[in-house]
Amino acid sequence: MDNQLPWRLKADMLWFKQATIAQNPKQENVIIMGRKTWDSIPEKFRPLARRKNIVITRSPEKCQAPYTAQSFEQALKLAYSLGNEVFVAGGGSIYELAFKHPDCKKLLITEIDRNFQCDSFFPDYSLWKKYKTIASGNEDGLAYSISIYQPE
Ligand SMILES: NC(=O)c1ccc[n+]([C@@H]2O[C@H](COP(=O)([O-])OP(=O)(O)OC[C@H]3O[C@@H](n4cnc5c(N)ncnc54)[C@H](OP(=O)(O)O)[C@@H]3O)[C@@H](O)[C@H]2O)c1
Repeated sequence: MDNQLPWRLKADMLWFKQATIAQNPKQENVIIMGRKTWDSIPEKFRPLARRKNIVITRSPEKCQAPYTAQSFEQALKLAYSLGNEVFVAGGGSIYELAFKHPDCKKLLITEIDRNFQCDSFFPDYSLWKKYKTIASGNEDGLAYSISIYQPE
């Protein structure tokens, strides 16, 4: 909401870091994100450390990200040339593009058992199958569950 997450869930932040940073310190994974998501990251935390950050924008000249691309296809091509595993980290418009792409093979989903007012959404993944639950718990009254989904 208003280019911020409507919740604060440390377990999700930690999982995001753990899942996206390559285990082998000699390797770097790639994170693709939309320009608004890039803007939502506090300056001191970006680019996200130990990962190659690619930002999709129609105005690359206005963006200070280490790597930019002007379309999802261009970002993916660059990602494959740069690094190891490739992750798409939102926001809504980029999830929408990635979700439709044949290379999208896995969803890392954190579900939170509460309704929030939102202005950006993840695509409908009801046809995907829950393959594994990584963790679940309750943080400050927020019940959550972190899972991996794969296509049916
Ligand atoms: N829960 C989560 O996992 C999660 C993760 C990330 C973000 N979020 C939330 O999602 C929200 C942001 O999502 P959003 O959909 O508003 O913005 P976004 O997807 O992060 O970024 C949108 C921007 O990406 C660029 N873009 C999008 N499609 C493009 C295309 N086809 N070609 C070229 N450039 C393109 C444009 O940048 P320009 O305007 O620069 O051209 C557009 O304004 C925030 O509230 C954020 O907190 C949630």
